[in-house]
Amino acid sequence: MRELAGKVAAITGAASGIGRELAYACASAGMRLVLADLDRAGLDATVARVPAPAAGCLAIDCDVSKPASVEQLAQRAYDAFGDVHLLFNNAGVAVCGPAWTATPEDWQWSIGVNLMGVVHGIRSFVPRMLARGQEGHVVNTASVAGFVSVPGSSVYCATKHAVVTLSECLQHDLALAKSRLAVSVLAPAFVNTGIADSARHRPAELAATNPLAAPFEARVRKAIEAGRLTAADIARLALEGVREGRFYILTHPAILPAIDTRAREILGGRPPTNPMP
Ligand SMILES: NC(=O)c1ccc[n+]([C@@H]2O[C@H](COP(=O)([O-])OP(=O)(O)OC[C@H]3O[C@@H](n4cnc5c(N)ncnc54)[C@H](O)[C@@H]3O)[C@@H](O)[C@H]2O)c1
Repeated sequence: MRELAGKVAAITGAASGIGRELAYACASAGMRLVLADLDRAGLDATVARVPAPAAGCLAIDCDVSKPASVEQLAQRAYDAFGDVHLLFNNAGVAVCGPAWTATPEDWQWSIGVNLMGVVHGIRSFVPRMLARGQEGHVVNTASVAGFVSVPGSSVYCATKHAVVTLSECLQHDLALAKSRLAVSVLAPAFVNTGIADSARHRPAELAATNPLAAPFEARVRKAIEAGRLTAADIARLALEGVREGRFYILTHPAILPAIDTRAREILGGRPPTNPMP
């Protein structure tokens, strides 16, 4: 989708980090915005700094792990603007720790937001986008953790690998249906956002965390704080990818050799080496 001006972007996880910067990048490109998050204060802070909000900016409370909440988001977006052309399924959370001590609550929360959030976005928006018959684009935020397997990140990696294959299957399904919708999977490495403090919005009933998370969390926090690309850089690269119709948007080229190594190990029947020794 080369021309973005005047079109409508819907962005989940827009109250912070990459989602917030996607909102600014889309607004700067002349798009109208539907911004969704469960963090109302953060959402309001995003809206307060949107360039040229007069073009149209709707901020909606939404929990992407809940199908009815995402369905309501889509309905309100179409009621307000009549169309959504660019969907960012971006909301996400991270947990850490060894696989054998990850709690059922770690799994339920992470799968609910990172995977089912994308599933619900696809289910609520894509049929409406298809019905309109217009050119459109769905961007699902995975991570480099969707292409390699990182120690202490089994839960996060499992959800992000799932988002990658879900996006690949969606691409095939849309091509078979001869639709005018494109798909991208956005895969950043470490970016300094609120992701290390994901637990700030963790539901009380899913509070039980991995008892051995601490050293892995400290390591991830350090790597995130050292991330050289900013959330604004990721948003710029994402829109570049959308304009160029690129499926894989891997924002950190330094990770490519690790993906290559993994592919060679699979094909060669060798066990995986640690991509983050
Ligand atoms: N920051 C990184 O290093 C990095 C790297 C790779 C991928 N990612 C991915 O980028 C995406 C954005 O994360 P970020 O880094 O900007 O983190 P962030 O914490 O700054 O932003 C995530 C946003 O998602 C929202 N959110 C969480 N649960 C939600 C729910 N149930 N419903 C609706 N909104 C919810 C949060 O309130 C927050 O506003 C995530 O999918 C994350 O996994 C981040």
